Amino acid sequence: MNNSLDPSDWVSLEKLGNKMIKDMMSYFQNIEGGPTWNEAPGEVKAFFKKSVPSKGVGQKQAYQEFKTKILPYSFGNGHPRFWGYVTGTGFPYAMLSDMLASGMNSISGNFNQSANFLEVQTINWFKKIMNYPQGSSGIFASGGSMSNFIGLNVARNKKAMALGIDIRKQGVSAIPENLTYYCSKETHSSVDRAIDMLGIGTDYLRKIDTNKNYQIDVEKLETTIKNDLEKGFNPCCVIGNAGTTGTGAIDDLITLSSICKKYNLWLHVDGAFGSWASISKKYGHLVKGLDCSDSLAFDLHKWMYLPFETACVLIKDKEAHFKTYNIRPDYIATSDKGFTSGEWLSDYGPQLCRRFNALKVWMSIYAIGLDKFAAMIEKDINHAKYVEKLVTSSDELELLTPVSLNVVCFRYRKEKHGDKKLNEINKTIVSTIQDNGIAMPSSKILDGKYGIRIAITNHRSQRSDFDKFIKETIRIGNLLTAK
Ligand SMILES: Cc1ncc(COP(=O)(O)O)c(C=O)c1O
Repeated sequence: MNNSLDPSDWVSLEKLGNKMIKDMMSYFQNIEGGPTWNEAPGEVKAFFKKSVPSKGVGQKQAYQEFKTKILPYSFGNGHPRFWGYVTGTGFPYAMLSDMLASGMNSISGNFNQSANFLEVQTINWFKKIMNYPQGSSGIFASGGSMSNFIGLNVARNKKAMALGIDIRKQGVSAIPENLTYYCSKETHSSVDRAIDMLGIGTDYLRKIDTNKNYQIDVEKLETTIKNDLEKGFNPCCVIGNAGTTGTGAIDDLITLSSICKKYNLWLHVDGAFGSWASISKKYGHLVKGLDCSDSLAFDLHKWMYLPFETACVLIKDKEAHFKTYNIRPDYIATSDKGFTSGEWLSDYGPQLCRRFNALKVWMSIYAIGLDKFAAMIEKDINHAKYVEKLVTSSDELELLTPVSLNVVCFRYRKEKHGDKKLNEINKTIVSTIQDNGIAMPSSKILDGKYGIRIAITNHRSQRSDFDKFIKETIRIGNLLTAK
């Protein structure tokens, strides 16, 4: 027995590793043949209740459990008919590069080492892609939630600094009048979480009504800001959306920017998935104004199809960003040269050690090139338009809102039924489609109507997948209403 965690028999581990890769390649190649979801049977669920072993079962056996009990009952987001929520699909090359990141096991973003050079380079690429000044700062984060949190934190701290308050030392209670944040009612709940974690309190997150296209009503926004000022609140930040989770709505970012300038507010844009439309020559105009923001959050694990967890936030005011997070105890002191030199990205986010997530992003973009990603995004938007046509040309279906990006919301409809009954029917359609592994839509309630919702961030989907989904939706709807 080896007295380290390295193998005593390297050859057999290498063989096992090759097998894992071979199996995963075959998983990817056959993914479309299986269901979108496969409920784990009782004995599999029972397996996950086993207590921690003091003697291991061996690497081959553990891998066997992965193959038989874990992989077949997964979330399923690699399937070509998975369009629920907003998730990326992953792809084989990204999986392999992610494995290399685990092999290197470097701390990302700190020290004079390649995982730092590469994260910084990738962030510089993003600045170019999103038309942000090269002097901006940025950091990789675990997801859209954390990217939003970082942006909203810098907004808070900058406002506090302007009021002469060192919020990191004095805390939020040192601010005499409550800070207020503004966003549309369609904004993702990660913003509520961030406001809660920042100690602002969600009572001070003003949820502004939307117009008929589910974009923030800019007039109501301005009136609310004015009212808050009159009442002595301290307006701090507006959060705009480049692709809402529910309908893919894109707020009028240019108008939001001029409102923010007028009232001296920070503009943060949640572009978790939508901001990537900007790399398409054909559809980039849909998300115009991203670069008017003070901070921009976007994921790589949604519409860049990369494996979890990868996202980024860019911030124009590098100094405010640095002052929000910089902390340097003596045990991580840096120097001008040598191992500890260089910029430390832990000065720009809440974590000290972060996984080397930038590697899979960098390798994928470097290997594949942005054009191919743009083509996949265009394909997704074209698919959304195709589904919109299928829906509007069907007597049994009703489009609930025009398609603005890659999200389609619709419902099955029979004239004789009112909204209450239709809501029940559509809810059952969604669960029947999900639970039978036909496809993975999710839902969204729009104007009191329960909608079947698909968010297409899936490079594997083909037209035939949408044909099948719509056909099944109508078939199940007809069965339910024939009863
Ligand atoms: C618009 C938007 N913002 C933020 C998030 C949160 O992102 P994450 O799940 O990566 O933290 C999501 C998730 O779907 C989203 O759709």
